[in-house]
Amino acid sequence: MMVPELNYSESASDGQQESVAAVPNSEHAAAGPRRVRIIVGITGASGAIYGVRLLERLRRPNLEIHLLLSRSGIRTLEMETGLRLSDVRAMADFHYPIHDVGARLASGSFPVHGMVIAPCSIRTMSAIAAGLSSNLLLRAADVTLKERRKLILMVRESPLHLGHLRTLVALSEMGAIIAPPIPAFYHRPQTVMELVDYSVERVLDLLGLPAPDARRWDP
Ligand SMILES: Cc1cc2nc3c(=O)[nH]c(=O)nc-3n(C[C@H](O)[C@H](O)[C@H](O)COP(=O)(O)O)c2cc1C
Repeated sequence: MMVPELNYSESASDGQQESVAAVPNSEHAAAGPRRVRIIVGITGASGAIYGVRLLERLRRPNLEIHLLLSRSGIRTLEMETGLRLSDVRAMADFHYPIHDVGARLASGSFPVHGMVIAPCSIRTMSAIAAGLSSNLLLRAADVTLKERRKLILMVRESPLHLGHLRTLVALSEMGAIIAPPIPAFYHRPQTVMELVDYSVERVLDLLGLPAPDARRWDP
């Protein structure tokens, strides 16, 4: 993965103050045959690389990616990967200001295949479980659940206290898929990216969009 020099030019604010509801990127947003829409959320848990790698692996002609980052997600993204907000936004077809709860992702009438939050913080996990739609990412997750679409949460925290565990159970009961980014070692990973890819490929499987080159256990 390309990791450009750390640049904090957009970190003084949350960089999400656009007045428009959705910002399309380049040629992707061009009209064409209807594409499968996926919402990718990146929140402030450690592991922003999971969200970035997911965006890379979802870059396919038939998919349309809608990106949401929380303020803390932007912070961890810059800290952990050296990528700028603009670098990551460029990987999606559309991105949205997190505060714009009136954007189309806030409505169940906007057809979307599913949503992945990668990584998902405890704060965001808890807010979704409580139905607190106080920003667009949380509202989009709530809509995904109420419309009975796939909501995949790559929750990352350790250790977990009983409240966390109960919240995970509640979310699972509501229909969310809890997919913590826990690495496996049976494929003998040699690099961090191989560990990251393992979890990302499992999420792609869960979305029903398997990566053609995904490595699988097949002894
Ligand atoms: C470097 C760093 C690492 C963090 N790692 C985690 C983490 O792994 N899990 C978590 O739940 N919160 C983590 N946090 C705390 C969240 O960023 C914080 O709770 C924030 O309010 C989450 O907001 P959000 O859900 O809107 O992104 C981390 C914060 C920082 C600065």
